Amino acid sequence: MLSHKLSSELHSIHDTLTLHNGLAIPCMGFGTYKTTLDGTSRILKTAIVEGHRYFDTASFYGNEMLVGEAIHDSGLPREEFFIASKVWRTEMGYEKTLMAFENSCKRLGTDYLDLYLMHWPRPDLVDPDWRELCAETWQAMEDLYLVGRVRAIGVCNFLPHHLEPLLDRCRIVPMVNQIEFHPGYPNLATVNYCQERGIVVQAWWPFCRGRIFGDDLIQKLCAKYGATPAQICLRYAIQKGVIPLPKSSTPERMRENQNVFFFEISKEDMYRLDSLPQIGWSGEHPDRVKIPQV
Ligand SMILES: NC(=O)c1ccc[n+]([C@@H]2O[C@H](COP(=O)([O-])OP(=O)(O)OC[C@H]3O[C@@H](n4cnc5c(N)ncnc54)[C@H](OP(=O)(O)O)[C@@H]3O)[C@@H](O)[C@H]2O)c1
Repeated sequence: MLSHKLSSELHSIHDTLTLHNGLAIPCMGFGTYKTTLDGTSRILKTAIVEGHRYFDTASFYGNEMLVGEAIHDSGLPREEFFIASKVWRTEMGYEKTLMAFENSCKRLGTDYLDLYLMHWPRPDLVDPDWRELCAETWQAMEDLYLVGRVRAIGVCNFLPHHLEPLLDRCRIVPMVNQIEFHPGYPNLATVNYCQERGIVVQAWWPFCRGRIFGDDLIQKLCAKYGATPAQICLRYAIQKGVIPLPKSSTPERMRENQNVFFFEISKEDMYRLDSLPQIGWSGEHPDRVKIPQV
């Protein structure tokens, strides 16, 4: 299994996978959603002190300025960081995407991004022309890539049937697809589809906000490998060749989440994790109204 072989070569969050254009991307990023609810960049600054250099943000998160502030105040050179942002649903379309990109850069205090992602394949559930809008949005992202404003481009929440029409028309195959991925909802159809085409998958909600931590199998694997539930979830992603983007608020958890290279989940246990009944799903699906979860 290719991803298994790759994971054994990774020893820290600074080790990298290679995107299809040759760009090295860290094997774990830091999720920034809801990290600035106190109106400050305090948690982001802590993440930098704790070693994080890859920040996943989005115009939708409303925190790009604070991400930029944390990076600026660190005093470290821009090139030490890997910054990803996303074009939101209401910003789709060729001209609007170019504008959204400039606004994100301005807020982040940078003139280039390491990764720019289309946040969702559909602006809403009623627009019958979503394929066209995706193609136009993608064209703008390709142009930004071709002039060197962004080092890699990709998508989020694209299932195979959203990728197919894009792949039919694109000049550049997306380098990344960021999807919900965790034990209990590993989205394997999409993971396999992407990996067969050289598209690196990233995991949002890598531990679905802790909802699966009490699961029997997760608990058994914790005892077997001497790991915490969060570490099992992150290690599962890494061994699947998937880049997890955990968010945490405390230095202790940040350290715990980075410390996932001291054990290897066996092949049999990986199959067990692959085959868990569905648990912890966020309720988000690109073709459906969000289904509230209890
Ligand atoms: N592309 C998309 O559509 C999309 C959608 C959703 C999310 N995302 C990205 O994915 C990132 C991750 O998602 P998320 O932040 O919503 O969820 P998550 O990372 O699955 O879970 C975060 C929650 O887990 C807790 N936690 C963190 N480390 C822990 C540990 N070691 N032990 C116990 N609990 C721990 C955190 O608590 P504390 O904060 O209190 O430590 C927080 O409540 C986001 O920040 C965002 O960047 C992308």
